[in-house]
Amino acid sequence: MKISYGLALRESLRHGKVSGKALEDFSCRLERAQDWLEGLAEKGEVGFMELPFQDPSPALEIGKKLKERFKHFVLIGIGGSSLGSETLFHALKGPLYNSNPHRGGPTFHVLDNVDPVKTVEILEEIDSARTCFCVVSKSGSTAESMANFLVTLEVLKSTVGRNLVRRQVVFITDPEIGALRELAREEGYQALEVPPNVGGRFSVLSAVGLLPAAVLGLDVKALLAGAARALEACKTRSLETNPAWVIAALHYLHHTLDDRRISVMMAYHEGLATFADWYRQLWAESLGKEGQGQTPIKAVGAVDQHSQIQLYNEGPKDKIVTFLHVEEFAKEVEIPSLYPEKPSLSYLGGHTLGELLNSELIGTASALAKNGVPSIVVTLPRVDEKTLGKLFMVYEMATAISGYLYGINPFDQPGVEEGKRLTYGLMGRQGFKGKGKEAREIWKKRLNKVCEVS
Ligand code: PA5
Repeated sequence: MKISYGLALRESLRHGKVSGKALEDFSCRLERAQDWLEGLAEKGEVGFMELPFQDPSPALEIGKKLKERFKHFVLIGIGGSSLGSETLFHALKGPLYNSNPHRGGPTFHVLDNVDPVKTVEILEEIDSARTCFCVVSKSGSTAESMANFLVTLEVLKSTVGRNLVRRQVVFITDPEIGALRELAREEGYQALEVPPNVGGRFSVLSAVGLLPAAVLGLDVKALLAGAARALEACKTRSLETNPAWVIAALHYLHHTLDDRRISVMMAYHEGLATFADWYRQLWAESLGKEGQGQTPIKAVGAVDQHSQIQLYNEGPKDKIVTFLHVEEFAKEVEIPSLYPEKPSLSYLGGHTLGELLNSELIGTASALAKNGVPSIVVTLPRVDEKTLGKLFMVYEMATAISGYLYGINPFDQPGVEEGKRLTYGLMGRQGFKGKGKEAREIWKKRLNKVCEVS
């Protein structure tokens, strides 16, 4: 994994305040951020840096059994409880996995949203008597995940009978608190743990990501080894060797010195598009507080060249772009040399699709540089468990370091709580009645002004 950032510096862009020297001078701040983060880890307040060294056997053993026993695997979880597994699935298994008769394991589905159409269609698609439902919720109380759990539980009861549902349900939750942990104790559901000092969006390398990875037959040890290697690099104290420092510093400096308040992650690999979703949540929920933070945007190359690039090149100069670049694709195809007499087709012949995709990346990054838009290129030799482990850890470290730079706590999310409380009130949860009234009163105000198409 390599982070190339020459195109994020003033020397290539011909303007802006972020020069190579400004970045070097920033090392002292990064040193302090590193001390702060390592101090939190030493005190046990932050646990994601320990995950590469855990014993993965419990998740591996359970995952292997589930893989052999079930025809379908449905992950119920949202946000940090689902995005990591989805990233692994999309990056390493691909969109046609479920329809591949030779896939060698259960089909894989995610119930994150509470869109009734999606939930009903997934439940109709699977044979629930041959399905493992894995409910992932650190708090064990998230409304969306609990609702999807209750819906599936009822379906399961009606197909296999009340006494057998336990055999088909696994929880991944806090070791002490929450409704899922209580149910595990009271009714004997199998339950793995999310360490209390690991927040949802930092939990992909815990059982939260490892169990689904094992069910998918992925190389969990390689994933952890990649993360361990990246962590080692992210503990060094030099911009030449610490990718988290480079990512955090460039985003922070471009934001605060040049008002680049949007961070685009553009993946030139379809399988990594979900990594950009994962990054979007991590960056937004960790850093968007106390008036601080950048807005993360997901984009996919080359598709979004035909959607977003006009804006990035000629719209407001408020973006820094990260390109995800993969050197070797798992599958490749040569473009045939047909129609030599037609110049708009003939030049493609003899090249591969991967070559074209990566040429588009270079073309796009170069055009952005000519227009003064900074970019960072993250190059992976290939997409596999090891490189994904590195990618996850580097971005978790960069996010944590950025929290220090912005002077905020990257590990909490107070801004999501009020919306949750108002929803609880609307849904009649005990203790939140007043909140329901408050929400209804705010909502009523929308009727003050209305524009209607009949
Ligand atoms: O990163 C976070 O903390 C959140 O995105 C959570 O993962 C998300 O809200 C789901 O929470 P829980 O795992 O408690 O159901």
